[in-house]
Amino acid sequence: MAEFRLPKNSRVKTGKTHKAAEGAKRTTTFKVYRYDPDSGENPQMDTYEVDRDRCGPMVLDALIKIKNETDSSLAFRRSCREGICGSCAMNIDGTNTLACTKPIDDVKGEVKIYPLPHMEVVKDLIPDLTHAYEQLASIKPWMRAEAPVSPTQERLQSPEDRAKLDGLYECILCFCCTTSCPSYWWNPDRYLGPATLLQAYRWIADSRDEATNERLDELEDPFKLYRCHTIMNCTKTCPKHLNPAKAIAETKKLMVERQG
Ligand code: SF4
Ligand code: SF4
Ligand code: FES
Repeated sequence: MAEFRLPKNSRVKTGKTHKAAEGAKRTTTFKVYRYDPDSGENPQMDTYEVDRDRCGPMVLDALIKIKNETDSSLAFRRSCREGICGSCAMNIDGTNTLACTKPIDDVKGEVKIYPLPHMEVVKDLIPDLTHAYEQLASIKPWMRAEAPVSPTQERLQSPEDRAKLDGLYECILCFCCTTSCPSYWWNPDRYLGPATLLQAYRWIADSRDEATNERLDELEDPFKLYRCHTIMNCTKTCPKHLNPAKAIAETKKLMVERQG
């Protein structure tokens, strides 16, 4: 008989409720996923009422307020608080995005927050990105160029060649795309996923890099690249409005062209 429910130790329980301070006139309710693997307890959803008149406008502002004033045990990553570092990526109101650039007012009703999906959880909203970073390292995300350059000059690039990196260099490696990709959910061990593939294309497209063929050779594999089935979740969710699906399609095109 097929089992359609989560195993008992994975079922998410109802957790604690933390009311807003007395006198709060305008509150928003946050339901936040809590999980501590060391505790042996099931995950739970804790409820926090936040006084919006004493809170900044973004979801990250609310999480910081909760941690500072209500529940210091809540764990999440953040650093830049302006959409640059990629560390505050989480699932908010059903979408992978950055907590620091997501306005609370964009969410209707309660704000539900989970860690990025389909990843091991270190604690609460912190996913374990070890494997994703290993995959990124595997594509050698740095310039490979042996040709000597003059010590007084940088490696030059025409404005047209530089323009080819637009839409690629802006990636902040938040992994919102990779963790939204069904192909990655099913084959995370062998498929590289959209974030790493966008990075791979960023170097393939760079006129100064001399390892284009090696880079393509390294992706010539039934899983690493070709597990992308153009489902487009990645492009839909990217908080920087990039298009990893297009970068993957361009890479596949180059694979075909070099065979011709
Ligand atoms: S492509 Fe977008 S969603 Fe994916 S890692 Fe880069 S910035 Fe994040
Ligand atoms: S387009 Fe490819 S990488 Fe993007 S979500 Fe779909 S299968 Fe994943
Ligand atoms: S805190 Fe750096 S992207 Fe959100």
